[in-house]
Amino acid sequence: MSNLLLKVENLKTYFVKKNFLRKEKHYVKAVDGLNFHVNKGETLGIVGESGCGKSTMGRSILRLIEPTDGQVIFNNQNIRTLSEKEMRKLRGEMQIVFQDPYASLNPKMTVGAILFEALKTHDIGKNAKDRLSIVQDLLVKVGLSPIHINRYPHEFSGGQRQRIGIARAIAVNPSLIIADEPVSALDVSVQAQILNLFQELKNSLGLTYIFIAHDLSVVKHVSDRIGVMYLGRIVELSDKKSLFKEPLHPYTQALMSAVPSLDPDSSKQRIILNGDIPSPSNPPSGCAFHTRCPFKQNVCETVVPKEIKVSDDRYVYCHQFDTDYKDAFS
Ligand SMILES: Nc1ncnc2c1ncn2[C@@H]1O[C@H](COP(=O)(O)OP(=O)(O)OP(=O)(O)O)[C@@H](O)[C@H]1O
Ligand SMILES: [Mg+2]
Repeated sequence: MSNLLLKVENLKTYFVKKNFLRKEKHYVKAVDGLNFHVNKGETLGIVGESGCGKSTMGRSILRLIEPTDGQVIFNNQNIRTLSEKEMRKLRGEMQIVFQDPYASLNPKMTVGAILFEALKTHDIGKNAKDRLSIVQDLLVKVGLSPIHINRYPHEFSGGQRQRIGIARAIAVNPSLIIADEPVSALDVSVQAQILNLFQELKNSLGLTYIFIAHDLSVVKHVSDRIGVMYLGRIVELSDKKSLFKEPLHPYTQALMSAVPSLDPDSSKQRIILNGDIPSPSNPPSGCAFHTRCPFKQNVCETVVPKEIKVSDDRYVYCHQFDTDYKDAFS
């Protein structure tokens, strides 16, 4: 039996922006050619600065936003060819947990009603009594108490609200959960508790995660493999250990330089990024990172880097590792 759960091939999601005055259209290339896979039972972390397309990627995989191009193969099914009805059925298998649990929970519904509705929509539970008992179980599973069932979202703390968001996601027995910065809105003291809950649920329910964060220390905590995103693309993807031991892409190195090191002898060269992230509506030519890269050569301005396979489970998009351009960097 294959261990593969999800395969994303050349996924692109462009937003059209119209300028009515000049009657022009231009494209925001939020996701611009993603390739990766996720194995059953693993956590793939996705990390990158604000605006690099992480949320658009997550929503495009679930078709909450319609991708512009590419394939999303989930459990051997190409989900881009499914009808809306088939897709609705499949959404039970793929759930999303949002950054801001308050915005994603209906403030007029009690927690019990929110979870009850999720069960009903996906036809889980034989009858109302059965569903009530499932809801009580769910609350316990996420570290809340069944006595919370009649409370409204505003009666909970931020961390508790995220627990409700997680309960709603696991209510429908998904195999894949896309967690879109699920701890970034929480106090640091609460973040670890929620990350631990994700880990516990993964083990007890056999879940697979795509875990999105802008902070490397968060993805380091939870991931088996990590993909680093820059301007709509993955620039490096690696197992966690190799990535932290030897980051290859200059952008990965820069992200790591930003994480404070506790090791006073650390000989790691700090890479400080110049300037802001360029706009995805007008991305730089060649390698999109060239405008901020300390190792930039002429080739980087004109040629788009190809995938360089470094080892079985590791690839990088950077001309420094392309034997064709070895001389340019010597
Ligand atoms: N509906 C939309 N219409 C037009 N542009 C959009 C839309 N949604 C997102 N974008 C743009 O697409 C790019 C990627 O946005 P996205 O929200 O996916 O980034 P992100 O990595 O999740 O950022 P953050 O870390 O801030 O959550 C941004 O430039 C954003 O402005
Ligand atoms: Mg986002």
